[in-house]
Amino acid sequence: KLAGSAAKPLSTKKVVITAGGTLEPLDPVRYLGNRSSGKQGIALANSARDAGAEVVLIAAHLEVQLPEGVEIIRVETALELQAATEHAIESADVLIMAAAVADFRPDHTEQSKIKKRDDTADPVITLVRNPDILAGVVNHRNAVGGSQLIVGFAAETGDEHGDVLDYAKAKLERKGCDLLVVNQVGQGPQGGERTFGQDSNQVLILDRDGSEPLKAEGSKQAVADAVIERIVNKIAAR
Ligand code: CTP
Ligand code: CA
Repeated sequence: KLAGSAAKPLSTKKVVITAGGTLEPLDPVRYLGNRSSGKQGIALANSARDAGAEVVLIAAHLEVQLPEGVEIIRVETALELQAATEHAIESADVLIMAAAVADFRPDHTEQSKIKKRDDTADPVITLVRNPDILAGVVNHRNAVGGSQLIVGFAAETGDEHGDVLDYAKAKLERKGCDLLVVNQVGQGPQGGERTFGQDSNQVLILDRDGSEPLKAEGSKQAVADAVIERIVNKIAAR
């Protein structure tokens, strides 16, 4: 085996990664957003690039610097992220959906700034569901017989109805993706926030083939490297 091919196992592959949190506008100056920092997605982009892949990073709102050496497509809303993702996956080998996609958006965006007024009732925000981008691209791939490897991310806390693994397995089934990387979120051991904006986290990598979930722990870069390694192994096993 050539040393070069071992060091750059993705050198002939195109990897599309979505990262960050979508912003859903209420008016020209306000939006509904979420606490995703984009760190995990950017770590994945770095890792895939270092493995030799051509990387397309579809970036929603980020709180960290963009990586070097990858193609960047900026988006804001879930609908923009959907359009960019559906286009990019056509020519890709791998899609990793690390973005935090808003589940709902305001049913309309005011064209001018919403003003507070004394002569009318306080406004009520009505939300409508955003499309499930991941489930949509999996369905489309299956319908056309595509061969892209599709990886989802999930953040779960577990509750009185089930633990993190229960919810993760159900989500993997529902989305139909090949791998699901599950982040355990919520209160950390010191009472601090466990994942959002933090440099380190703990994940389980679930495979739809039913093999034992893989645990990865450490910095977001270490987790990203473990996810990319799993992808490399899956591609090699095909
Ligand atoms: N996702 C997506 N489109 C959406 C929502 C989520 O593509 N409208 C993707 C995310 O990028 C992630 C995966 O689906 O890869 C799981 O996201 P998550 O929010 O955990 O799943 P939901 O189906 O929205 O379930 P929940 O009710 O737990 O939020
Ligand atoms: Ca969601």
